[in-house]
Amino acid sequence: MIRIVEVGPRDGLQNIKPLVPTDIKVAFIDALSKTGLEEIEITSFVSPKWVPQLADAEEVCEQIDRNPSVTYMALVPNEKGLERAIAGRVDKIAVFTAASETFSERNVSASIAQTIERFKPVIAGSPVPVRGYVSTAFYCPYEGKIDPSKVADVIAQLLDIGCDEISIGDTIGRAQPDEVRTLLELSLTLCGVDQTAMHFHDTFGNAIGNARASYEMGIRVFDSSTSGIGGCPFAPGAQGNISTEALITDFETTVDPGKIAEAGAIIVPYLG
Ligand code: HMG
Ligand code: MG
Repeated sequence: MIRIVEVGPRDGLQNIKPLVPTDIKVAFIDALSKTGLEEIEITSFVSPKWVPQLADAEEVCEQIDRNPSVTYMALVPNEKGLERAIAGRVDKIAVFTAASETFSERNVSASIAQTIERFKPVIAGSPVPVRGYVSTAFYCPYEGKIDPSKVADVIAQLLDIGCDEISIGDTIGRAQPDEVRTLLELSLTLCGVDQTAMHFHDTFGNAIGNARASYEMGIRVFDSSTSGIGGCPFAPGAQGNISTEALITDFETTVDPGKIAEAGAIIVPYLG
């Protein structure tokens, strides 16, 4: 059995240019909430100038119909984002940094060390659990292959400042199963399987093989997006996340495939 963290409403939409109406996002999230998913990343409290698609984060949080058995998570880059997330009554926040300095600068205008400093008051002030994303954990669109020791170093820092969970991101979908195994052999010595999630994008069709390799190493939490939407506007070439449909076909889960198809049908016409 695996646990899926549905990131479609956040990762799936942030890279879509035409603005999706708020009521469609709300209908998508409400439909996802009835599929058996336990956790959904619903939006992002980043700068609306950087990610205009998610500028309606407050409205989304206000309008969704919350299912008490679902954890609603949102991305938070800094203290201002935390204030907004608390007002939005999310159940969990996710801070995000990277294993590549160049990507970190392009994504959040800060070095990795500066992001860690920014996160300290965010984590200290968070009334809810905190996930920490490590992007470009295998390849960076600017720097190429990333050394696993760099990833381990960032994971150690995120745990040290109080993250409850780490999500390891193959941001541009270039990892291969042997690279996943190599990184996990190292990272699992710092952060156990109960605290690790894998976040695969699927640019080259490797994502399901990477998920299987992670599963064999003991990983049971995977991020995915319904209909395989997704990508980062600051990572050229980043394609969609591994689809929720692919994960529920390959692994045993609590999620109903028919209901995921219904949720997907709500959002797909708006993807441009
Ligand atoms: P900055 O410009 O360096 O920040 O951006 P600043 O502190 O100088 O603020 C500039 C302006 O933004 C100010 O407004 C602030 O008030 C405002 P102004 O005075 O110009 O009117 N501002 C905010 N507004 C609302 N909410 C906030 C906020 N913070 C500042 N939280 C910043 C720094 C981090 C804000 C910016 O770079 C940013 O928002 N970046 C977002 C990048 C992003 O969302 N990337 C995609 C998500 S990461 C991802 O997709 C990878 C992942 O999926 C895993 C994987 O695949 O690997 C997680
Ligand atoms: Mg992503």
